[in-house]
Amino acid sequence: MTSALEHGTEDTPGRLGAVLRAAGNDRPRALGRHGPWVATTLDQARTVLTDPATYDFPVDVSRRAVRRAEMRGRSPHGVVAPLSHERAAGAAVVLRTELDLELARTAGAQHDAMALLRRPVARSTTAATLPALAAADRDRVADAVLDWVDALGPVIASPRPLPAWSRARRSEDGARHRLETLLDQLGAAEPPGTATVLAAGTQVPVAAGAWLLVGLAERPEVQDRLHTGGLAPVQVVWEVLRVAPPTWVTARVTRRETTLAGVRLPEGGVVLVSPLLLGRLADLVPAGECDRGAERVVLDPGRWDDATARPGAWLPFGAGPHACPGRTVGLAQLTELTSWAAAHRLDLVSPAYVDQSRGIFPRPALVEIS
Ligand code: HEM
Repeated sequence: MTSALEHGTEDTPGRLGAVLRAAGNDRPRALGRHGPWVATTLDQARTVLTDPATYDFPVDVSRRAVRRAEMRGRSPHGVVAPLSHERAAGAAVVLRTELDLELARTAGAQHDAMALLRRPVARSTTAATLPALAAADRDRVADAVLDWVDALGPVIASPRPLPAWSRARRSEDGARHRLETLLDQLGAAEPPGTATVLAAGTQVPVAAGAWLLVGLAERPEVQDRLHTGGLAPVQVVWEVLRVAPPTWVTARVTRRETTLAGVRLPEGGVVLVSPLLLGRLADLVPAGECDRGAERVVLDPGRWDDATARPGAWLPFGAGPHACPGRTVGLAQLTELTSWAAAHRLDLVSPAYVDQSRGIFPRPALVEIS
């Protein structure tokens, strides 16, 4: 990650750099004359995420505008109940089994972390979401989820919402329809909502897991501390979710003119909340041995040695009515992945860069696993 997210923000390109350069302000920062505005403190971020009467959640997972009538409810996908610890434990068992199978299936020691994690994560998340499915059906659903996730890629990466007749949108519609039909045949409740949970719960943990493997591969000393029990896996997990939260930014749109920390926002103004920015604030994150001054950019799981330090203050799982319902599952998957990685030796094959086309993920994420 030294090669990707840990260097200074001055030269970080694109929207990512623009948002990060807003850090250090105590008022929301406008990126242009008409916004968007970046929330620069935890208080601002909490206000934006927890007040849906003022700040709308405007799009669904496939970037279709959500009708206002639906927005009166708490979520465009209906209320998604948080998944239990029991479901999370089941997801971890499936992940471990599938990682071993995937490693055995792939020839050679070199792996692209994003590719390696796809199937294990999809199966693990499907097991957590639909625990009654037999393994063969779970695997069919997981494959259909991956097809939809892949078809969603170009739609999400497009700078503007794509028209319904575009090739990318038609292919995405087809993949979503096939997944929903399969879920319906298997008796899943509310197939469209379940499909959304499965897609959100696959792509994001795959990206987080890839950052985790790349981060460990880059740091033999962290791997050594994990081997010897000097670090708990969960410390690594929180630190990766701080340095590289896959959902690094989320947006809300004001329903009416309002004021945020003294800054006037017009009706229809876009406000960005960034867990990546918040995770660099010295008042939310304890200092680590490798930090320079108030900087909090270096991946240093040892900063969480102090059991009184509170990880997660930078909202990697969001907050408010749209906060992540899969938080326990995501944490369990990443903790299991860290334990699995600690039983191997990881080396980075080539520098990883930040791909901003869909959240953030490392590319290439080439890791040698022995
Ligand atoms: C490391 C793992 C994960 C991270 C970092 C993560 C992060 C997030 C974040 C930040 C949001 C809020 C987005 C916003 O406010 O705009 C969110 C929403 C969501 N997440 Fe996760 N997530 C993870 C894993 C999962 C898993 C495993 C599932 C399902 C099993 C899941 C399902 C969802 C769903 C359905 C939403 C939308 C909730 C709504 O709009 O009401 N996530 N996630």
